Amino acid sequence: MLSARSLFQEIVDHDDTFQLFCSIAAGGESQGGWENARIAALVPEGMRDLAPKIARHGADEDKHGRIFNALLRKRGLEPVPVPPETDYTMLLERRGIGLAHDRLRRQDPLSERDIVVYLSHSRVTEQRAADQMGVLAGHFGSHPELGRAVRMISHDEDNHLAYCHEELLRLARQGHGRTIHRVLRESALAEIAVYRDVSLAVMEHMGRLLRWPAPKAAALAAGIRGAYGYERFSGWHRMVRLSPPERRGALDGAPVAAPEFA
Ligand SMILES: [Fe+2]
Ligand SMILES: [Fe+2]
Repeated sequence: MLSARSLFQEIVDHDDTFQLFCSIAAGGESQGGWENARIAALVPEGMRDLAPKIARHGADEDKHGRIFNALLRKRGLEPVPVPPETDYTMLLERRGIGLAHDRLRRQDPLSERDIVVYLSHSRVTEQRAADQMGVLAGHFGSHPELGRAVRMISHDEDNHLAYCHEELLRLARQGHGRTIHRVLRESALAEIAVYRDVSLAVMEHMGRLLRWPAPKAAALAAGIRGAYGYERFSGWHRMVRLSPPERRGALDGAPVAAPEFA
């Protein structure tokens, strides 16, 4: 039977697919860590209060990258190169979504508008991360090898999403509402297409490694396209809504360490 659970189980059970899955995940997390660290360093004077939260966000993502690498190490596997067509962050950047890496490599401070763009983009991508990790934690939260890792990452991603809601609502009250609304919409519509393309590419790699029969691969691809159809029709709205989060100040304070993984 084709379910998300059986699919992940198959990927986790085989070293080749587990290696690719963890490598792609580690790459995306470390990239997020680097971006947030750069943005924290370049926050404009009038928004300095946000810098520690952005730095904390980056530290969390870096930790996630280390966790996925530690899962590989525990199985005696090395990270493998991430195929470009599965590189979510790079593909989003190429569509002009979020802040360009060239910009982040420069030393001059960002503008307030840049920070608004960054947070709006994060609200969309953190929704994806929180949703995905929620599904993984639901299926593998008590798995002996993965349970602790997926529960910890899932909890962090929920925090990141709560922080984006809280800060964007604050910035909207300060008069950035129109920009936020526009960037959220653009980011969400681009993100759902990139997510579809990356999912198709990842599944193609997994199918090859697991020697899936053509009908199984075709059914999965149809499922991914169907999910995109739903997101394009109405699902994307969930990525652009702003509501006061239950967890306030989710990124205040130091990150929770993960000594068993680091
Ligand atoms: Fe993460
Ligand atoms: Fe995150």
